[in-house]
Amino acid sequence: MRKYKILSECEMKKHSEYIEKVRTMNLNSGVDKYAYIQTFGCQQNVADSERIAGMCEAMGYTVCDTPDVADIIVVNTCAIREHAEKRALSIIGQFKHLKAKKPSLIIAVCGCMVAQEHRRNDIKFRYPYVDFIFGASSLFRLPQLIVERVQKQKRLYCPEEKEYLVAEGMPVRRESNFKAWVSVMYGCNNFCTYCIVPYVRGRERSRRPEDIISEVGELVFAGYKDITLLGQNVNSYGKDAIGDDGETYDFADLLSDIDKIEGDYYIRFMTSHPKDASKKLIDVMASSKHIAHQFHLPMQSGSDEVLKKMNRRYDTERYMGIVEYMREKMPDVTISSDIIVGFPGETEEDFQGTLDMLSRVRFDMTYSFIYSPRNGTPAAKMEDQIDDKIKSERFDRLLELQNRIAYEKNQPLFGTVQKVLCDGRSKNNENVFSGRTEGNKIVLFEGNDSDTGKFLNIKITRADTFALYGEKLN
Ligand code: 5AD
Ligand code: SF4
Repeated sequence: MRKYKILSECEMKKHSEYIEKVRTMNLNSGVDKYAYIQTFGCQQNVADSERIAGMCEAMGYTVCDTPDVADIIVVNTCAIREHAEKRALSIIGQFKHLKAKKPSLIIAVCGCMVAQEHRRNDIKFRYPYVDFIFGASSLFRLPQLIVERVQKQKRLYCPEEKEYLVAEGMPVRRESNFKAWVSVMYGCNNFCTYCIVPYVRGRERSRRPEDIISEVGELVFAGYKDITLLGQNVNSYGKDAIGDDGETYDFADLLSDIDKIEGDYYIRFMTSHPKDASKKLIDVMASSKHIAHQFHLPMQSGSDEVLKKMNRRYDTERYMGIVEYMREKMPDVTISSDIIVGFPGETEEDFQGTLDMLSRVRFDMTYSFIYSPRNGTPAAKMEDQIDDKIKSERFDRLLELQNRIAYEKNQPLFGTVQKVLCDGRSKNNENVFSGRTEGNKIVLFEGNDSDTGKFLNIKITRADTFALYGEKLN
């Protein structure tokens, strides 16, 4: 029997009781109560915020989209780069006047940023109107923290969990009724030298397959069409739950079981680590009915020397091998990557290696980042930190090359008919509708509000760098 690190039913029952307590408090107050949730960072944070919203609803709050009317504000923070932290701190600063106007307002800060000691101290000393903080591994404690805050009338600093466990059965309020995020595991054990994630999200722990499969099954039954499985490194799924007899169940097994669910939907997943992207996983994708032929495989750098310093545990040849195998099994696969420029000690030659790999792999899309030193990570202490000017100059060169490749890669799609899931009106232009192909490429077209959430056939009439343009056929 495989053993998963799940919070006991008895613990979860205690948390449901706290939900009930807050609900009763809110009902007894005789007035409507509102919750405002502000989210920074990655999809994992977006998924976490959907749980926070679910708990707030269960506690009797109406989730609202403006902080001005809120009785509770939860800021879900990110720590991946300095910029994300600065934005969160600035927003928290802006909430000071709301608290001054309404002293009963509860302001809570959670997520990756406040799992770091120095940021906890920042909140403690520089933002005295914040009522409580809790890390990304303690989401389920929100109702308990509200009760304690009200009863004890003092600020609370929820300590990091002694043991990192999965909390099943938390209520969820999904933002979309056709696209969904499903976490399959939490935490990370990789300790890439630039990355703060293992320090703020704790060790890897996988959800039980049966919990994930039934969640996906319910979503498909409810009409969801695009479901993304989330984890910091999904390819490690199940490694923390090997049975006494050596019995294993890995991410490829999970995908293959999910794929058996009947319906018209796509399964996507992120993020994958190249060191354990297996042939078995690619074979499952290639022969599946529902797994989108799209792969996000962060390469980070095209220099073997830099990859070693990053502790990535693969080299460019291994990376290329995975790409070639993927394209052999799924010629239509779209591949995207994360790239960091300006890692400590990155020479012009190392950077040239990254540009060369971009030209060899020809990614459909890359997400590029300027290296940002993170307090407490090994890379922040490395010598040879790169000058900001050089970093941004390399960043611009990288974008220029990648934009050209993306443009060229989109050209063969001109004239084809693509199955597109309509997301609704485009955020940039209300008169145009936007959707995504199986490969997750953006398509813009003229549509109707009734198209939202539906699969459409779109004939591509123009292919550009960041989007395809087309005409609706049905
Ligand atoms: N600086 C810049 N980018 C980073 N990433 C992670 N840590 C850092 C950092 N310190 C990038 C990686 C990762 C993505 C989510 O963020 O490319 O894949
Ligand atoms: Fe960070 Fe590396 Fe873990 Fe990704 S795999 S979250 S980059 S430590």
